[in-house]
Amino acid sequence: MSRATHCLAASCDDYRRLAERRLPRFLFDYIDGGAGDEHTLAANCRDFQRVHLRQRVLCDVENPDTRCELIGQAASMPLALAPLGMAGLYARRGEAQAARAAAAAGVPFSLSTVGICSLAEVQAASGKNAWFQLYMLRDREAVQGLLQQALANGCDTLLFTVDLPVAGIRRRDIRNGMLDPGWRGKLAKASQLARRPGWLLDVGIRGKPHHFGSLTDQVADPNDLRAFKAWLDAQFDPCVTWDDIRWLRQQWPGKLVLKGILEPDDALQALDCGADGIVLSNHGGRQLDGVSSTIRQLPAVAEALDGRLPILLDGGIRSGVDILKALALGAQGVMIGRPWAWALAAGGEAAVAQLLASLQCELAVAMALCGVKSLAAIDGGLLAPDQRG
Ligand SMILES: Cc1cc2nc3c(=O)[nH]c(=O)nc-3n(C[C@H](O)[C@H](O)[C@H](O)COP(=O)(O)O)c2cc1C
Repeated sequence: MSRATHCLAASCDDYRRLAERRLPRFLFDYIDGGAGDEHTLAANCRDFQRVHLRQRVLCDVENPDTRCELIGQAASMPLALAPLGMAGLYARRGEAQAARAAAAAGVPFSLSTVGICSLAEVQAASGKNAWFQLYMLRDREAVQGLLQQALANGCDTLLFTVDLPVAGIRRRDIRNGMLDPGWRGKLAKASQLARRPGWLLDVGIRGKPHHFGSLTDQVADPNDLRAFKAWLDAQFDPCVTWDDIRWLRQQWPGKLVLKGILEPDDALQALDCGADGIVLSNHGGRQLDGVSSTIRQLPAVAEALDGRLPILLDGGIRSGVDILKALALGAQGVMIGRPWAWALAAGGEAAVAQLLASLQCELAVAMALCGVKSLAAIDGGLLAPDQRG
């Protein structure tokens, strides 16, 4: 495992700082922020600190093995890149860059419905290693079209996001002018852009086109971003129910993973609907401020599912130690969102590769110091006695 560095970053927080220097304010805030007062966003990270591991010694821990299967797909470690909207604006053709880094590292990349690059572009970059994320749209024919597109591009895992029936309220987007279509908003954005000429040239100008790559068939003029946004806003369907998941299950022959499950009851419904897995997620604290952190919910959800469905956990994973803690509490793997966004903005594909290598290295070191060499040996026994549930 290489510890060579391409940019001077040793932690997710370091990438975050570099990203802040590179991105226009409204874009940095879009990535960094959460809903409401951002209590859940903070709890996602903070609650990992409350999980304590047991240090074990003299166990022969040479060469810990982090390889695994994630939703039936071989991976070099139990981690996948979570879908992030508009990642093609964090760096030039950002999704393709990150997908290349993920493929080289041997982990799945997920393309958001509202990604800038198309699935074809991402699959070409990733060697057909990508997962596709979908929101339910009112126009079910458009949904079927997107499923066909995913199949035609060799994608066999669908992440279906269920925690966004309506968009959470993100105050940073109001404060920085992102949501203001009037002159005040335009002025604020222009001044934020003027302070980031490097981004403007590299991504703003050379990174075009900036339309939502998977949705270009849905609007008459894909280069008209306003028309795009209006179409999308009208398409988000708050009426979705478990019946729609059953419908989706019939439409989609590949692996179906429901993303945005936080409660044991909902996890059981997912099982009942024929899902192949869940992502235990609160959308990175971007939806309902005040819900529990994901790591706090994990033991109850794992107990309810009792091994019948794989659980991927996201929200607040910032180190290899966090990955180990999630596995010890019952997850099969984890997803990272903001960490890859920050790395991508900080240094493109090379920085995402560096981030993934360091997370794998940190996981291996944490395993060794807990006295285990294989992922199969990670269980509640690695946790301090009062935390085993
Ligand atoms: C900037 C940003 C954009 C996101 N866009 C999407 C999206 O398009 N679809 C989706 O299912 N989740 C989206 N999410 C949620 C992430 O997939 C993931 O659940 C969350 O980022 C995990 O938390 P973390 O950022 O603490 O790792 C987004 C999150 C962020 C930070």
